[in-house]
Amino acid sequence: MATPTMDKAEAEAAAAASPYITVTFRIRRFNPEVSDEVQWQDFPIEIDPKERVLDGLHKIKWDVDGSLTFRRSCAHGICGSDAMRINGRNRLACKTLIKDINPEKPITVEPIKGLTVLKDLVVDMEPFFQAYRDVMPFLVTSGNEPTRERLQSAEDRERFDDTTKCILCAACTSSCPVFWNDGQYFGPAAIVNAHRFIFDSRDEAGEQRLEILNDKDGVWRCRTTFNCTDACPRGIEVTKAIQEVKRALITRRF
Ligand code: FES
Repeated sequence: MATPTMDKAEAEAAAAASPYITVTFRIRRFNPEVSDEVQWQDFPIEIDPKERVLDGLHKIKWDVDGSLTFRRSCAHGICGSDAMRINGRNRLACKTLIKDINPEKPITVEPIKGLTVLKDLVVDMEPFFQAYRDVMPFLVTSGNEPTRERLQSAEDRERFDDTTKCILCAACTSSCPVFWNDGQYFGPAAIVNAHRFIFDSRDEAGEQRLEILNDKDGVWRCRTTFNCTDACPRGIEVTKAIQEVKRALITRRF
């Protein structure tokens, strides 16, 4: 980067060696305390394309406009709090490198769809978490408390391994056209978390969860568009899990 003491040639050489480029973030802004209108705002910033979209959002918030509002916590793809639509696709901002999304054009950043926007990139997650709670995402057993861990074979553990990876970011549910049109649908994430316990050999509430998902707003609403599988930042085969729950409902075999 050029400094005030450099001559012109030194400044040009420093600029040529610098990894920084100018990238425009085009962000959908909404602040109900100021206006009911949504507006798009451009923020040109200097950034290394090897950095992530989350780093760009931090630069804007910390150096340009402190009112920009978005969720993030771990910054390493674990907590699931920074799912957003980046160039029209649901992604985690902390796992998306600038260089991977054509930084020569403005990078559009907007909130995930199908949930009420509270401010800028922050949506109301309560309907999403309500659907999650409704499928009983915990182990249900009867009988006395065991005195040691509940044993399970490696094959039985493998049966639901994929769906244990969910971080509840809502990238799948908010990429689903059925969910956009009707927020009553349980959505892929709730079904994935039901799958995680339905196919767990130690659990005893599989039938109960299947009945919950046999509802008019349950698994049968899925149109197999695969948007959810494409959107999952953890690589979970979401559509396959939904199909397995449908099949279990038909055969009642877990
Ligand atoms: S900030 Fe935690 S997953 Fe991105």
